Amino acid sequence: MTSSLLELRDLQVHADGASILRGVNLTINAGEVHALMGPNGAGKSTLANVIMGHPGYVVTGGSIHFHGEDIANWTPDERARAGIFLAFQYPEAIPGVSVVQFLRQAIAARKGLEELSVLEVRLDLMEWMERLGMDPAFAERHLNDGFSGGERKRNEVLQMALLEPALALLDETDSGLDIDALRIVARGVRTVRDEHADMGVLVVTHYVKLLEEIKPDQVHVLIDGRIESSGDATLAQSIEERGYDELRPPVIR
Ligand SMILES: Nc1ncnc2c1ncn2[C@@H]1O[C@H](COP(=O)(O)OP(=O)(O)OP(=O)(O)O)[C@@H](O)[C@H]1O
Ligand SMILES: [Mg+2]
Repeated sequence: MTSSLLELRDLQVHADGASILRGVNLTINAGEVHALMGPNGAGKSTLANVIMGHPGYVVTGGSIHFHGEDIANWTPDERARAGIFLAFQYPEAIPGVSVVQFLRQAIAARKGLEELSVLEVRLDLMEWMERLGMDPAFAERHLNDGFSGGERKRNEVLQMALLEPALALLDETDSGLDIDALRIVARGVRTVRDEHADMGVLVVTHYVKLLEEIKPDQVHVLIDGRIESSGDATLAQSIEERGYDELRPPVIR
């Protein structure tokens, strides 16, 4: 039996009847940080969503194992409670719900508790905000309501720190994020991992700069629904220099 955190075997996925993932193999062990790169439309966000159990995607073949268990039929809720965390590429605003209120609900759900005192959450929250160099006033802001790109990133990192996921999936949009926002993510991932050495991370990004700071154990390149190449951080560097073309499979005529 496998002891890996996440194991995808020949995973095939459709959305709206179209084939998007066409046989993905990926193993993430506890404590490993993996980066997923690849051209626009390759299926990176799809992969993250499928691991989380997004209902819009249909697994048509292959398997998803988490801690050795087949989770293909688990709901997103069950996956979240089991410790899978997904930070959305385009998080939605939830007007009227503050950062601290949202975290209180999310942590209670993750830990299987009915209720969690505001005080308890607040103590943890304040400690993490200080560690991450965040303004305490941020906790009272309404979730994603008018958040700048950098603030969204901070919120994402805070959620990751407080929810203590076993597996964190970070789908990073790069457009419009300045170098400081990328640093927030990179530093946040490192800080949270220092605390939770067993956490596995899959970070989707186009930015080599981000990876230079996160220092992934492995880099994978997804092209047209398949992982065409895997390697260490130097793979990201060579993509930065030469692009994806030479990693594309030859066209069979
Ligand atoms: N729900 C859906 N219904 C139909 N097609 C979809 C759906 N979700 C994704 N797709 C298609 O699947 C392909 C992969 O999309 P995906 O968002 O996973 O790409 P990506 O690698 O994350 O790209 P980017 O780098 O631009 O974020 C695209 O052609 C997209 O239009
Ligand atoms: Mg995407």
